[in-house]
Amino acid sequence: MSNERAQFVTRIGAIAATVGSAVGLGNIWRFPYEAGKNGGGAFLLIYIGCVLLVGIPVVVSEFIIGRGTHKNVAGALKQLAPGTKWHWMSYMGILASLMILSFYSVVCGWIIEYLFQAVSGNLSGHSAQDYTNMFNAFVANPWRTVMWTVLFLCINFLVLRRGIKKGIEKVANFMMPVLFVILLVFIAYALTLPGATKGLKFLFFPDFSHLSPKVAIGAMGQAFFSLSVGLSCLLTYASYFKDSDSLAKNATIVAVLDTLVAILSGIMIFPVVFSFGMEPEAGPKLVFEILPNIFQQLPCAYLWSVMFFLLLFFASITSTISMSEISITFMVEEHQLSRKKATLLNTGIGIAFGTLCALSFSVLSDFTIFGKTIFDLFDFVSSNILLPLGGVFFAWFVGWYVDKKFVDNELTNHGTTKVSIWRRPLFFCIRYFAPIAIIIIFLYGLGLFDTFL
Ligand code: TRP
Repeated sequence: MSNERAQFVTRIGAIAATVGSAVGLGNIWRFPYEAGKNGGGAFLLIYIGCVLLVGIPVVVSEFIIGRGTHKNVAGALKQLAPGTKWHWMSYMGILASLMILSFYSVVCGWIIEYLFQAVSGNLSGHSAQDYTNMFNAFVANPWRTVMWTVLFLCINFLVLRRGIKKGIEKVANFMMPVLFVILLVFIAYALTLPGATKGLKFLFFPDFSHLSPKVAIGAMGQAFFSLSVGLSCLLTYASYFKDSDSLAKNATIVAVLDTLVAILSGIMIFPVVFSFGMEPEAGPKLVFEILPNIFQQLPCAYLWSVMFFLLLFFASITSTISMSEISITFMVEEHQLSRKKATLLNTGIGIAFGTLCALSFSVLSDFTIFGKTIFDLFDFVSSNILLPLGGVFFAWFVGWYVDKKFVDNELTNHGTTKVSIWRRPLFFCIRYFAPIAIIIIFLYGLGLFDTFL
């Protein structure tokens, strides 16, 4: 079966698609809002620590399992741990991917709305307060938010129906660099604002009085979310990698680019937040309130706003494709469903739960579980709990369970690539540091250390 599976045509194709999965709303929407909510600098510091010492090792672990078996997550775990129940872990990944797809599609719907507003010329000529009101009025409209969520999932469906190579690669390859350049232009403007240094200080100078279990859990969850790691998404992608790709190098490239885009997004947003006297803790709406203020100050505001939301749309769809791919590949390869049926099922589940998430800002805003709306609950449970748990599992599985020879072969491409000096520290992190750090942050988050600290 593995011979029949598509392989990424070029190395750049493989990296571009993986970066496409990683770079998305997590960087441009979720990072600034989480950083804003969690005190800025202290959050950034823990976030970077988590990316380097926990994220990259878990990414490599997923790569090893995926590329080593060329199978989907359940098939891979059955091959590496035959006769055991470890392949049941794949259900957790599938559950988490569907939860993420649901709330993520809602925000993609917001992007379509803003693209629509940008094209209609409504995103300029207003005051900062007007933009806040505009967003609040929009999300309070159940029909409109649900309509865009469903439309987005239908577009996602159409792209997926075209298959791995054609669908994903084409889109991923040329959109990312343009988005990057646009971010730089917006940053150049943001830095000229009177309050810019205040914003940069907020982001880059850690104020440790802000450090709390909430911040640590939030930063770790953000690292996992942004890297698309912990629920076998990267495992599925790596199952399409070629045997000559260097896994450690691919993981590093993905992590560096992904983190860079997140930090750039922070440098773009916080100067504006502080110079307009807005709240960094605004939550999910932060970026949508701030961005129009940037556009309208630039010459050709119309063009910038349309281009930005269009690119953000493409960055997001490469991410939703990657999360959908987990359950689709699983249904096709483990349950012999046709690709068409599997894609339909994925979209149907997304629409059902996505609708509930979209309504969390209007008719269901008072419906809370553990004090969270459905949207917040899906986000919190998947990113801050299921992804790190998946991370512990993958690191432990590769570090302790799988045959060391298999791991070595994957890291060195069967001895054909030069053995890097990073291999030992990397393996140390996979085996000890990553799982232990995740568990400690968890216990800290649950308040278990409160009596000692
Ligand atoms: N990393 C993506 C982003 O930052 C979101 C994403 C795509 C994701 N696939 C994933 C998150 C798998 C967790 C798991 O927008």
